[in-house]
Amino acid sequence: MATTHNSSNDKQTGDRQGVSTMTDTADTQSAPPSAASSANKRRTGRKSKVRRAAALLGALAVVGGMYSYATPSNAETNASASQAEMMKTGQGIYDKTCITCHGANLEGVKDRGPSLLGVGAAAVYFQVSTGRMPMTRQEAQTIRKPAKFGHDDTLALAAYIGQYGGPAIPEVSKESIKNANLAEGGELFRLNCASCHNFVGQGGALSSGKFAPSLKHATPVDIYSAMLTGPQNMPVFSPNQLTDEQKVNIIAYVESLQKTTDPGGASIGRTGPVPEGLVIWLGGISFMLICTVWIAGKS
Ligand code: HEC
Ligand code: HEC
Repeated sequence: MATTHNSSNDKQTGDRQGVSTMTDTADTQSAPPSAASSANKRRTGRKSKVRRAAALLGALAVVGGMYSYATPSNAETNASASQAEMMKTGQGIYDKTCITCHGANLEGVKDRGPSLLGVGAAAVYFQVSTGRMPMTRQEAQTIRKPAKFGHDDTLALAAYIGQYGGPAIPEVSKESIKNANLAEGGELFRLNCASCHNFVGQGGALSSGKFAPSLKHATPVDIYSAMLTGPQNMPVFSPNQLTDEQKVNIIAYVESLQKTTDPGGASIGRTGPVPEGLVIWLGGISFMLICTVWIAGKS
């Protein structure tokens, strides 16, 4: 019964849409052509020269704007390039820079680097965009540094290695961060991240010379992909542990920590309560002295 009703409704809607489209077209067609100028001919001549110059300038500005808009975003060009081509580029870079440690078939090389089969595009994006990879020498822990590869090459590497499975590069929109639940993000951060990264995301030491880094420079995608891939000693936070929404709340909270400079006023080097007390004490004493002198002078 309900089904019949529904389908007939659908039909009606479809019909109505069809009609309204036709009406729209008819309206557009019947609109009068823009009225041609019928003013004084000489004035029009002078004006049209000015107008033509203005139009030319306008067109140049538009073309220039489009050009500068289109040129730096090679990412878009790449996005339209076929996936296969990206993988080929990725393989080229891999064979030059990563193969010695991660092996010809991504299976890893003993004592050099782990297998990358199934680590996913997210892990590659995290490692390469934070400058951790390519590793330059064997060390206890790779650290964040300026990325060696640009955005396009990073995506190509991610496509090549990501074809063997694993999490894709996560997307976080500005919108979702703006609408996130900061209070929940803060609570989840204190529960899941603060033990290693400290309550304000400043990082801290872990065992055997390792450390959890400061989160000051991590972008939303860095934070998301770190949670998805668990680099080094960091655990993976699967969807069972933290849903996508909870992850976005955490990201928004970390972003807010990055923005919060010093809510309690000047940080005085963040050296703790002793220098803070000293500053207050000295400032207070000076202020009281000035007041005393001022009152004494008045009476
Ligand atoms: C000098 C050796 C070396 C080179 C070169 C190197 N890596 Fe690594 N890579 C490592 C080691 C060691 C680890 C594991 C330690 C760590 O995660 O810090 C690792 C970890 C990784 C991981 C994380 C794996 C996981 O389980 O999450 C990715 C992804 C990765 N490398 C990608 C690359 C890419 C891409 C390149 C080339 C641009 C590259 N690496 C070049 C040594 C190397
Ligand atoms: C057990 C300790 C531990 C916990 C818990 C942990 N992390 Fe990490 N995290 C690390 C370590 C260690 C690294 C450095 C990994 C490396 O250098 O390869 C790291 C790296 C990161 C980075 C990269 C920072 C940068 O700028 O390069 C981000 C972002 C991050 N963690 C976010 C989080 C978030 C969010 C949580 C909670 C959901 C969390 N971590 C929980 C240990 C931890």
